[in-house]
Amino acid sequence: MAKQQVGWRVVLQKRWLLALLVLLSISTAIALIIRAAYDSCDPHFEVVDKRFELGPPVSVAPNPLSFMKSKLVLLVSHELSLSGGPLLLMELAFLLRSVGAEVCWITNQKPSGTDEVIYSLEHKMLDRGVQVFYAKGQEAMDTALKADLVVLNTAVAGKWLDAVLKENVPRVLPKVLWWIHEMRGHYFKMEYVKHLPLVAGAMIDSHITAEYWKNRTQERLRIKMPETYVVHLGNSKELMEVAENSVAKRVLREHIRESLGVRNEDLLFAIINSVSRGKGQDLFLRSFHESLLLIQEQKLHVPSMHAVVVGSDMTAQTKFESELRNFVILKKMQDRVHFVNKTLTVAPYLAAIDVLVQNSQARGECFGRITIEAMAFQLPVLGTAAGGTTEIVVNGSTGLLHPVGKEGVTPLAKNIVKLATHVQKRLTMGKRGYERVKERFLERHMAQRIATVLGEVLQKAKSHPET
Ligand SMILES: *[C@@H]1O[C@H](CO)[C@@H](O)[C@H](O)[C@H]1NC(C)=O
Ligand SMILES: *[C@@H]1O[C@H](CO)[C@@H](O)[C@H](O)[C@H]1NC(C)=O
Ligand SMILES: *[C@@H]1O[C@H](CO)[C@@H](O)[C@H](O)[C@H]1NC(C)=O
Repeated sequence: MAKQQVGWRVVLQKRWLLALLVLLSISTAIALIIRAAYDSCDPHFEVVDKRFELGPPVSVAPNPLSFMKSKLVLLVSHELSLSGGPLLLMELAFLLRSVGAEVCWITNQKPSGTDEVIYSLEHKMLDRGVQVFYAKGQEAMDTALKADLVVLNTAVAGKWLDAVLKENVPRVLPKVLWWIHEMRGHYFKMEYVKHLPLVAGAMIDSHITAEYWKNRTQERLRIKMPETYVVHLGNSKELMEVAENSVAKRVLREHIRESLGVRNEDLLFAIINSVSRGKGQDLFLRSFHESLLLIQEQKLHVPSMHAVVVGSDMTAQTKFESELRNFVILKKMQDRVHFVNKTLTVAPYLAAIDVLVQNSQARGECFGRITIEAMAFQLPVLGTAAGGTTEIVVNGSTGLLHPVGKEGVTPLAKNIVKLATHVQKRLTMGKRGYERVKERFLERHMAQRIATVLGEVLQKAKSHPET
């Protein structure tokens, strides 16, 4: 028995080494990302599951979405790409397919010829039995009229209503559920959201974003939000499987640390977001520098500290990217700050670091999925007290919050020092974060919440005379 387990470990380790090497090569990354994100039938994980799970298989539990069986659902996406919005809608598509719903997908964006990403995403959906239509054809119109439910994804998808349905818009609105994931000002345009008051419901990722939408639509546009449901997101099963696989985590950790040139005992603070002023990498680096000074001044004994900025795009050559690098050179932190290109496979980095920094500025994140992903990896989170982060991170328990803006630089620096010097506190916060994820931020929790919303929306649509 013991021998067999050791055998498995070797096999697992080899698989992970291989997977990692492939993951890190850009050319094949996309295919793998999609696989990693959506395949639930990886035999490797089944073996792991059997070893650790003694309870009944998950499929025995009643699926909260089972009432959607044989319902016709039309999903309208503003684009098809590897960004958060479309990927979430795809997750919904697969959840619905798994209970036997008939699911159709349309993308309301000009087809860009031979885009590899679009091609592979479309095929991924076709493989799972999701039908993919042209957004402007008769088929889209007929499906919209026949459907039990139409889900518009993000505010921008609202343009599709008038453009395609024309005089039929009023017939479709009572069965529309509008899923909104953003809160930047330019989304509050009449052109996008004028039909919002008449749809069956809006579904928004955090309470604070829902409140913000209510305020803005009322004050700026003088329209009223429909019935609004807050649905916090959940971690995919695939992410949880990596997060809970200690062998995989260790292998990924070793490899990422090796690639960055940091030792196993060094302390890594990472910010994982596309690099832009709104995500606050500049302020994070200032905090990091300040924390190094504090440690020096107070002669504290801590392991060698590093900052990792995942999400760079040097090809873009933006002023902001140069500013970050110049700051690092100016403060002579080149050996302590590491820039990593944009990637969709965040799991290896989450396995490799010690603390996640979520430094989104202004109104913060609408939700901030990376936060719950990091917590799944038992990482404490140092986050801004703004947006969805405040609904995910429990200040003082699963992480520490600091104010947005320049006022937050010193508090964040102090929090960095706190977690660097209090090892036990750091580890406990990570564990509590993981427990919080297990309690409320898993895919099944999200499915449960979505099921409640879909149930109500269907009920409302049925009772409406127009449909
Ligand atoms: C919404 O408006 C109310 C009243 O003006 C205000 O107290 C609240 O902070 C606003 N919420 C958001 C998220 O903007
Ligand atoms: C990051 O991207 C830049 C520009 O595409 C490229 O030159 C560089 O080699 C990449 N770095 C890594 C570590 O992949
Ligand atoms: C977070 O908790 C700390 C004490 O643990 C407190 O000083 C700080 O003000 C709190 N921040 C927020 C935003 O609640």
